[in-house]
Amino acid sequence: MYTEKIKDYKIKDDAVILAIESSCDETAAAVIKGGRHILSSEIMSSSAEHIKFGGVVPEIASRAHTVAISLVVEKAIESAGITLQDLDAVAVTYGAGLLGALLVGVSYAKALAFSLGIPLVPVSHIRGHLSASYLENKELEPPFISLLASGGHTAVIVVKSYTEYQILGSTLDDAVGEAFDKVARVLGLSYPGGPNVERLAREGENNVKLPKMLKGEGGYNFSYSGLKTAVINYKHGKEQRGEEFSKADLACSFQCSAVDILVQKAIEASDEFGINTVTAGGGVVANGYLRDKLLSECQKRGKTLILPPKWLCTDNAAMIGAEGYIQYKKGNFAGIDLNAKARVDLA
Ligand code: KG4
Ligand code: ZN
Repeated sequence: MYTEKIKDYKIKDDAVILAIESSCDETAAAVIKGGRHILSSEIMSSSAEHIKFGGVVPEIASRAHTVAISLVVEKAIESAGITLQDLDAVAVTYGAGLLGALLVGVSYAKALAFSLGIPLVPVSHIRGHLSASYLENKELEPPFISLLASGGHTAVIVVKSYTEYQILGSTLDDAVGEAFDKVARVLGLSYPGGPNVERLAREGENNVKLPKMLKGEGGYNFSYSGLKTAVINYKHGKEQRGEEFSKADLACSFQCSAVDILVQKAIEASDEFGINTVTAGGGVVANGYLRDKLLSECQKRGKTLILPPKWLCTDNAAMIGAEGYIQYKKGNFAGIDLNAKARVDLA
């Protein structure tokens, strides 16, 4: 019955979409109008509950989502100044992420879409990160070059149209955010690692020699495991010899090595494809050094940089609403049998 009803649904340009995100430790809901206007965005994080374990514990994250989801959705609806009856569709992250965590959002979204008789739109979290740029600049249109740098992915992408991506290169091993998190642990910094490494790096200098990754020979691919191992070896070597060393300098040197190559490859792609607009998304794009570097390199070369604010780079539901609108316009509606997926393809 639901499927029959949705078949006749008339797609609207100014659709009001409720977006739900629960792929990791943030329970988030947002209301987006016409794909570009954020009417509300709410986030509740269980990150404090994971600190003592040094990383996200899937079971704890799932339970926290169960407790938070109704509250977060109610707040999003209320602060958007609408009622559930004003919604045209419900978009939800179905992957990639922690299965148990995703299932909380997917189940909630299914129930809501079914009860309201409106489309259920499945959204890839990865595409969501890339679509955050549409919220930052309401005139942004493909084609553009996008740098994706998150805890699970690292890639340089040509966004050819709203729905077509060309992946120029991605990571051969660890994602850049993963490298930040692992280095944080080595340096004795608590979860979440990335922001803590950034904080420490601010007090240090880039004076530790670390390997430059795949510069020149790797095309647009990345590799972070060698860099991570070099940081571990440097620290252990110093400790074994009983030599003093600056953790801040090591953090700063790591951050420069990890980030410079991202910026370099994004710029190279823009040059090679003659596409002058560059965007970026994913949690690591909240890094101040990366933001400054991207901006200065783009300015130097007369390129337009669309950089979403930090809160739109880390996990949120507004970006899921932006990508949800693109999928909604395409008529990509899911049935009530929608399942969560731990992994989804990049493009
Ligand atoms: O996009 P995101 O919130 O979740 C995924 O989709 O993976 O990215 C999380 C990653 C984590 O590895 C986190 O350490 C990193 O982004 N991150 C940062 C910063 N803020 C978050 N890395 C470096 N500097 C930051 N300020
Ligand atoms: Zn993410």
